[in-house]
Amino acid sequence: MPAIRRLLNIRLPSAGSPANDFPASFEAQNMKDIVPSPPPVVRNDVAAVQALFQQNVVPSYSRFDIVLSHGSGSYLHDVTGRRYLDFGGGIAVSSLGHAHPAMIEALVEQSRKIIHCSNYYYNEPQGRLAQALVRLIGPGKCFFCNSGAEANEGLFKLARKFGHEEGRFEVLTAVNSFHGRTLAGIAATGQEKVKKGFDPMVPGFRQVLYNDLAAMRAALSPATAAIMVEGIQGEGGVTPALPEYLLGLRQLCNEKRLLLLMDSVQCGHFRSGRFQSFQRILEGVPGGETFLPDGISMAKSLGGGFPIGAFWVRAPHADLLGAGSHGTTYGGSPLACAVAWKILDVIEREKLADNARQVGEFLKTGLQQLAGKYPAVIKSVRGLGLMLGFELAANIPNLPGDPSKTPTTRFANLLHGAGLLAIPAGAHVIRFLPPLNLRWGEAEEGLKLTESVVAKLAS
Ligand SMILES: Cc1ncc(COP(=O)(O)O)c(C=O)c1O
Repeated sequence: MPAIRRLLNIRLPSAGSPANDFPASFEAQNMKDIVPSPPPVVRNDVAAVQALFQQNVVPSYSRFDIVLSHGSGSYLHDVTGRRYLDFGGGIAVSSLGHAHPAMIEALVEQSRKIIHCSNYYYNEPQGRLAQALVRLIGPGKCFFCNSGAEANEGLFKLARKFGHEEGRFEVLTAVNSFHGRTLAGIAATGQEKVKKGFDPMVPGFRQVLYNDLAAMRAALSPATAAIMVEGIQGEGGVTPALPEYLLGLRQLCNEKRLLLLMDSVQCGHFRSGRFQSFQRILEGVPGGETFLPDGISMAKSLGGGFPIGAFWVRAPHADLLGAGSHGTTYGGSPLACAVAWKILDVIEREKLADNARQVGEFLKTGLQQLAGKYPAVIKSVRGLGLMLGFELAANIPNLPGDPSKTPTTRFANLLHGAGLLAIPAGAHVIRFLPPLNLRWGEAEEGLKLTESVVAKLAS
């Protein structure tokens, strides 16, 4: 048994278990057929690609010095031939990893039939996907769009429509939340850095301390129409909601006739080990089994990398947005919905919710052990399933890199150097958001790579 597995005393399932069925042989042959060979400029030419960006791409992102070319399963490859274990998952997006055969098949097969038709007409994949999501959540209806921010915009409009006749329009959100980069998204987000330079903010949003029910109650005003929270704050540092907070918010919203909206863009879609993170958080909690918000926004893992967003709205409010009140040209295209529907099918068939829970627990235990062994580097570990974060200790003595960069950016650079992709959440937390079909052996490899970086910093 390899050392780290022995250390954690965890038995791995046999190689033939469902989560391990990704065919390794798929990689080369199928990729060649489907993805055309890149033009010469992207062959081993990091500087040339970076120059293309410098000259032609708006510099709104701070990028790592990696030029990716292709991926397979939980691994990504750069143009220099380096291979990385992908624990970033494109920020919680690549639910089935890279180049999954079922996803490719759905893309190809649906493309042959119809890619787009607009919402002037019906298409079966949209109806089927909506049916599948309603079945997973509860009585209600779905609206489809293209991103997480757009899904939240839809819920904000729903809240305004809901409160309109009484002059209520305000949505209360949480400090440290993240709800997207549109104008309403940054107004809703509880982080100053996303608002800077974009004043005046869209009116009707205020932030209240997360996990503080009394503060939320005190913050209500006669204009409040809704409350929106993440089940697990992602960009804010991987902080799960407390069960009593969620149940209390539900009660408060019932009492004051407010909509309870959950932003599940990052923490949803089985990442926590259940379809919705609130289902995982409320497991075994009295009253938890009947908990339902009034609206849920989704994106990221829903499309596994193909852009799609959605929101679900609970039955009593499901017809509030009537014909002509909301729309988007690409929303719910047959192609996007066929892919998302296929992903749901794979997740169910391969029991990837259980995989996320079990492999996630293994990973979390491993990280906690690293935190215990190297407290000068890792302060704490949190998260559920395959949405994990670890907080770096303050002032890590030997942390190399540009001191003007955040500790997490510098730490992520070290992980990348070791062959592991991970995502910073602010200045202090590193996130692991790997594919839901991550194998036990890959989790083990990720822990080893993490330890190689942490041990060096601690020495
Ligand atoms: C919780 C949450 N909501 C909304 C968004 C915005 O989603 P998108 O980038 O698809 O617009 C994100 C993106 O990170 C998110 O984490």
